[in-house]
Amino acid sequence: MDILTLDDFDLKGKTVLLRVDLNVPIDHDTKEILGEYRIEEAAITIKALNSAKIVVISHQGRVGRKDFVGMNNHAKVLEKYCGKKVKYVQDVIGASAIEEIKNMNDDDIIMLDNLRLCAEENYEFSLEDSAKTIMVKRLAGLFDLFVLDSFPSAHRTHPSLVGFAQVLPTCAGKLIEKEVMQLQKILDVAKGPYTIVLGGSKVGDRLMAIKKLIDNKRADHILLTGIIANVFMRAQGRIKFPLNIKREDEHVANAHALIGEHPDIFSTPVDVAVNNNGSRTEIDVRDLQNDDEIFDVGQKTIEHYGKTISGSGTVFISGPAGYFEKDDFKTGTKALLEYVANSMATTIVSGGHLTTALKKYELSDKVDHISTAGGALVRYIAGEELPMIKSLEESAIKYRSK
Ligand code: 3PG
Repeated sequence: MDILTLDDFDLKGKTVLLRVDLNVPIDHDTKEILGEYRIEEAAITIKALNSAKIVVISHQGRVGRKDFVGMNNHAKVLEKYCGKKVKYVQDVIGASAIEEIKNMNDDDIIMLDNLRLCAEENYEFSLEDSAKTIMVKRLAGLFDLFVLDSFPSAHRTHPSLVGFAQVLPTCAGKLIEKEVMQLQKILDVAKGPYTIVLGGSKVGDRLMAIKKLIDNKRADHILLTGIIANVFMRAQGRIKFPLNIKREDEHVANAHALIGEHPDIFSTPVDVAVNNNGSRTEIDVRDLQNDDEIFDVGQKTIEHYGKTISGSGTVFISGPAGYFEKDDFKTGTKALLEYVANSMATTIVSGGHLTTALKKYELSDKVDHISTAGGALVRYIAGEELPMIKSLEESAIKYRSK
């Protein structure tokens, strides 16, 4: 991969637009930040940008979800890790954001508000069309350099991720350099059996990547938890009532086709923990009722998955097994992470929520690679060409000799 890095540019006196991914777990009630790992990593790139004028941009959550909040708390946490003032500007592409950027001095850092407050950022564009968006047209002219360091969203084509790279010299930040280098090293020597443990809630992303993982011989066993497990159990006919999730019929049909093509690869839970007025009750999947809320996997499932993890050559785990933020439902997430940490396999733990859990349970030192990315990493391991990497490569071709 040939991409430009910060070392290729003289940053002195430059105004730099830095796209990071500070999409972190948020407490649904208090709106507090629950995991700071991605913010901590972003600070490393900011420090490497020295005395440039730095404008930090990121999304947080998705519109309409409980983790869709502004970036004021993120700016405070970033300030802590940078050891420098980070000014939060409550605007994205409006007059006050533009005014603030124009008035910056060397060494200033500002953070604009949640990019997804801007309508365009909620759509994916072709690389060419992303450069024509109002966001890119309004902001690009204010900057000398675009630093792309948003590895967790490397699989997306929102304007802030691929648009600026079409019109500004663009290089990778420290996080992308680190992730790509370490992952390549791991994948070069990785050996089977390959076990993929997938949880979390982003079903569409997961389904797309699973097929690629299997086709590219990166998945001998796929152990499912979370909402993606429910979709597969529905496809197997083991959950008999609707899940009430978006695009349910399409997801269930895709899961059904995957199970049909690869009947031996997938494992789904045999038992689950349901929410019993805030406490944990474990039941067999066969006994699930229409109004049961599944908040975790059960003990038998944990043991079964644990055995497979322990016998693997490489384990990749992404997405929590349950609602681990609630004490009664952390059992599955914690136990599976412990199996991963204690296995002899090469291990990669990925995603905002799971890396937060890994730190909470003090297991970080026992895995080979902790990635800030979730869905993007699944696709990277599956061998997909990620639009962000493509943008970086194209920019290197355009600007390397200049
Ligand atoms: C992630 O956490 O996977 C990235 O921030 C991308 O978020 P998205 O799936 O909402 O685009």
